Amino acid sequence: MKNNKAHNDTLLSVNNLKTFFYTRKGMVKAVDNASFRVGRGEFVCLIGESGSGKSVSALSIMGLIDTTPGIVNGEIVFEGKNVLDGLKHVCTVTENRTSIDIVKNVAAWKRKHSSNLEGVRGRQIGMIFQDPVSSLNPLFTVAEHIGESAGLLHGKLTRKQKFEIATDWLQRVRISSPKDVARAYPFQLSGGMAQRVMIATALAAEPKLLIADEPTTALDASVQLEILKLLKTIQEEMDLSILFITHDISIGSNFSDSIAVMYAGRVVESGYTESIFGRDNNHPYTDGLLHAAMKVTTSADDKKFIKGSPPDSVRRPSGCTFHPRCEMKHELEDGGERCEREEPYEIIVNGNHYIRCWKYEPGH
Ligand SMILES: Nc1ncnc2c1ncn2[C@@H]1O[C@H](COP(=O)(O)OP(=O)(O)O)[C@@H](O)[C@H]1O
Ligand SMILES: [Mg+2]
Repeated sequence: MKNNKAHNDTLLSVNNLKTFFYTRKGMVKAVDNASFRVGRGEFVCLIGESGSGKSVSALSIMGLIDTTPGIVNGEIVFEGKNVLDGLKHVCTVTENRTSIDIVKNVAAWKRKHSSNLEGVRGRQIGMIFQDPVSSLNPLFTVAEHIGESAGLLHGKLTRKQKFEIATDWLQRVRISSPKDVARAYPFQLSGGMAQRVMIATALAAEPKLLIADEPTTALDASVQLEILKLLKTIQEEMDLSILFITHDISIGSNFSDSIAVMYAGRVVESGYTESIFGRDNNHPYTDGLLHAAMKVTTSADDKKFIKGSPPDSVRRPSGCTFHPRCEMKHELEDGGERCEREEPYEIIVNGNHYIRCWKYEPGH
């Protein structure tokens, strides 16, 4: 699992991404300065509680954010090319403490973004979602779904070719009666089967990266594990990169090469899985997730349990957004004053493993 092929070159890097939504309550800072990377052939887990900005990060990469202002800052570099290139001149956002003035020609911005993503979205980067049945079009058969995606790779295909490619892919996702399933409509599929069909559909375009947004959350526990194992096998067979989004850190420990932990719109810790699990101390939030997953109940570890709830996405705390819930800040010399004031930068603790917590600043 924790193989060294992960120590390789970068396929996708998301740098200082900010994706905001203007709502009646104020500006929702769904993703607020998040950075993470996916190496070639790597299985990366993006982990965090509900509402931490995982899905919005994925949708930003795919260019599927429809609400304003949407992506307001950062870089999304895929295969060495920033897909947000040339967008700054049509998207100017000036930010002060209380408000954001949006000077953005939305239609022009979207056109340019879509043109930057041509040949990338759906083709080089595929995505699967939590609810497979509703992600499939009820009017199309399984073969038509897979065939359409294969068309992005092969160009125009006949019905017969689509059917053949579909049955081939259904076999690769270990469906035992591929011809019957190829003729089926989405409503005829069980949840687990529909997720396999979604995976086959995304992979038929032979992407380099598959983004899987909680693809097993809606499934029974036994089916969850089967789907995870399938993804892991296919990833190795195709030398595919996977960005696997989950709230379950145990999936990260068992399946991933790298982990990025997201909290309140930010990646607070990121690195190779062995580096993250090889430490006694991580980001206080990661520690909390690990301890909850391991169900450590000794009183000595009480500090490592996360108390309270995540902050409102409109009113993010100042400084480190985790500080109101952090039990460790009092151990710093200033009693955690700086944590309340200043946002920690990415402090490298080992290789490319970083932790955004003042506790790890060299000299402490
Ligand atoms: N289109 C939208 N408009 C307004 N707020 C949104 C929108 N999409 C997501 N959000 C908010 O952004 C935050 C992050 O959401 P999301 O990325 O879906 O979290 P996660 O996937 O980690 O559970 C949440 O507070 C959510 O309510
Ligand atoms: Mg989500």
